[in-house]
Amino acid sequence: MEYAKEIVTEEQKKGEEEEQVVTPWEVASKGKIDYDKLIVEFGCQRLDQSLLDRVFKLTNRQPHVFLRRNVFFAHRDFNEILDAYERGEKFYLYTGRGPSSEALHLGHLVPFMFTKYLQDAFKVPLVIQLTDDEKCMWKNLSVEESERLARENAKDIIACGFDVSRTFIFSDFDYVGGAFYKNMVKVAKCVTYNKVHGIFGFTGEDHIGKVFFPAVQAVPSFPSSFPHLFPGQDKLRCLVPCAIDQDPYFRMTRDVAPRLGYSKPALIESLFFPALQGETGKMSASDANSAIYVTDSYKDIQTKVNRYAFSGGRESVEKHRELGANLEVDIPFKYLSFFLDDDEELEHIREEYGSGRMLTGDIKGRLVEVLSELVERHRAARALVTDEMVDAFMAVRPLPNMFK
Ligand code: TYM
Ligand code: TRP
Repeated sequence: MEYAKEIVTEEQKKGEEEEQVVTPWEVASKGKIDYDKLIVEFGCQRLDQSLLDRVFKLTNRQPHVFLRRNVFFAHRDFNEILDAYERGEKFYLYTGRGPSSEALHLGHLVPFMFTKYLQDAFKVPLVIQLTDDEKCMWKNLSVEESERLARENAKDIIACGFDVSRTFIFSDFDYVGGAFYKNMVKVAKCVTYNKVHGIFGFTGEDHIGKVFFPAVQAVPSFPSSFPHLFPGQDKLRCLVPCAIDQDPYFRMTRDVAPRLGYSKPALIESLFFPALQGETGKMSASDANSAIYVTDSYKDIQTKVNRYAFSGGRESVEKHRELGANLEVDIPFKYLSFFLDDDEELEHIREEYGSGRMLTGDIKGRLVEVLSELVERHRAARALVTDEMVDAFMAVRPLPNMFK
């Protein structure tokens, strides 16, 4: 009897899993992505108000809009990072980007904008991994093309405003070796094929590069991978800001860390900035109509928002005035909740649009303004990033004032 019950549960679980797939390579769902379910499935914790209050207290500044709006909604051991910080112990930040396309889209900006805020608020060093090797293997790009894209993407990342005296950007093709590679081998020895099959779904048909890659993404979580930055600081804790699709890598990393005598990296994880078509998928660079790029013109943004942004507005003005917009599914409103800083204006829009006084055209118009302004600001900042600056961020060097 017990046994039969178990089988049913397993099958139900399987059925549910098909409703929603979130891996580093695929985000798809039949309905809206159920983030509560992801928290349970992945085993992370919800980022609650008491943690936000602590961030406010410790940093002496208003928490970032992505915290206020619960864009960053989940974590692992973030409380421990704050405990340590409170005791006067610092930490370092680690995030990354897989350079698969020339231009970043707005979803890619989310972790980088947030990481910049964390760096400024906590005054801590940051390492940014550009996984040109990963994209070469997954997207079938040549080595040279992946390297070129990594440098192009580095310019967009630098344009987010990182402080060169506290930031080290590296590409795997250039940096892997020495202490970093030694850590990779230590990690690889702890992870069986069965394990990566379980976590990432690799099969016998996948080439061996894919099977080994998780070790590359894991080891920037360990300070000893950066002897020029953290000599003798093997106990320094690491905090990784990313979207929740990257969680599998760090589940693996946290699993092996204690066996190597290292601290587990802590994580702070965001929702996906959704595709224009709706919240069943993430904005993805591989579907041009789902995404707004940092290179899009005002006209492009206007056309994409007006043509593709899924609307919760009603089919006629009369119906809309009567029922109000369905904010649960409305993409323009969702986008504003990420990028409209002004809390009062957002509340005003929620009220007016939700009750039908404001029309879809109005909210789309406001969204086009907000996004164009953001993209224009990014474009101007990127235009100032020179090759010399990229070299400066990517130089293997000590950062003497990185905690000040
Ligand atoms: P990549 O290049 O696919 O994505 C870079 C970062 O952007 C996040 N992201 C999004 N966030 C919100 N909304 C979206 N629609 C969206 N799309 C992507 C990703 O979660 C990621 O944080 N293998 C990684 C590179 C990497 C990395 C890391 C990322 C190496 N080390 C450490 C985070 C932390 C990759 O291909 O990311
Ligand atoms: N997220 C990547 C993309 O689709 C794919 C990817 C491959 C990845 N390996 C990864 C993501 C490791 C995170 C970590 O563009």
